[in-house]
Amino acid sequence: MYPWLRRPYTMPATVITGGAGYVGSHTVMALIEQGISNNEIVVIDNLSNAYCEQGDDKPTSLKRIEEMTGRTIRFFNIDLNDEPELCRVFSAFDVQCVIHFAALKAVGESVTKPLEYYEANVAGTISLLGVMRRFGVTKLVYSSSCTVYGEPRKLPIDEGHPTGDGLTSPYGKTKFFCEEIMKDVCISDKSWKIISLRYFNPVGAHSSGRIGEDPSGIPNNLMPYIAQVAVGRLSEVLVFGNDYNTPDGTGVRDYIHVEDLADGHVKAIRLFDQPGFSGFHAVNLGTGTGYSVLQMIAAFESASGRPIPHRIVARRAGDIAENYADVSLSHRLLGWRAVRTLEDMCRDTWRWQKQNPEGFKTTHKTKKN
Ligand code: WQD
Repeated sequence: MYPWLRRPYTMPATVITGGAGYVGSHTVMALIEQGISNNEIVVIDNLSNAYCEQGDDKPTSLKRIEEMTGRTIRFFNIDLNDEPELCRVFSAFDVQCVIHFAALKAVGESVTKPLEYYEANVAGTISLLGVMRRFGVTKLVYSSSCTVYGEPRKLPIDEGHPTGDGLTSPYGKTKFFCEEIMKDVCISDKSWKIISLRYFNPVGAHSSGRIGEDPSGIPNNLMPYIAQVAVGRLSEVLVFGNDYNTPDGTGVRDYIHVEDLADGHVKAIRLFDQPGFSGFHAVNLGTGTGYSVLQMIAAFESASGRPIPHRIVARRAGDIAENYADVSLSHRLLGWRAVRTLEDMCRDTWRWQKQNPEGFKTTHKTKKN
């Protein structure tokens, strides 16, 4: 399938699973623009949530990154549960570390499809960890989520907050289970170094407008939904409840620009070179500031110059009122902080959506799968 795989590479490589997806592609961009520029960039993705033009050898997100940077990205269309294929990739490169994004991530969908989520997110992670161990690769950055905290007992949420209690979705449970597995792996073998980055609400797009969030179907999340209303693909935003105990009654979240998030991953990889660094470390990636649904709508209207029709409806099952991060550990441990503002998030989202009204698929082609 990959003819050049026959010639084992000695080049040091960074493997990014799920690197064709939203946060993954922005992290690939950041690695090339500022991070590990000497390493071969190897992306493993099964394209379950990434668009690939009919007949193309790479998903559009990666092709655009190659166009912008002039760098070649090694791409493998592999499912993490396909261990033999995974081994072929690890035997062809001198893998230095892995950034693991690959997962199914729609909270609502996970309730109706638990087995698919446990197979993709948990079994896939176990398969990856097994192959990493086989090839002596013990440095991992893991894409986790603030959903592992469940309903916040206090705000802001710090990394000492209990995890795994009252998780309402299989998606959140898969993130919690994977963290627990990684903790046990680190206890069993001191050579492992694992940094689990707990994202709050990723939004925004690369400043070029060439890559961004491209949800398939009707967006579950607020920001892409607002953007599709602004560009005319959807008619109005349904605001899920205005009777929460928050300043304007609507849900409050810690939205973080995806480029800040990507920078956090580059900082995390650098930690592996720190003498004495080892074991499992969970770190929040947020801004420490929460914004309400109505504030997001108003901010997007001013960034886009477009009215965003919206209507208050009933609460969405499983939603919490408020959630925002204690970011002191990320500052201390990673030497990182989010720098982009809500205006940046809205402006960059709008630039992406305006330049790509249909996301990555070009209007005259149908989606590949
Ligand atoms: C945000 C707010 C909704 C849509 C997400 C991911 C989760 C995790 C955290 C990564 C809430 C309201 C939304 C709409 C609305 N990320 N809303 N109308 O629920 O915080 O969780 O980020 O792991 O996986 O799902 O984000 O964008 O869905 O909702 O009123 O059409 O917007 O009630 O208050 P959420 P969201």
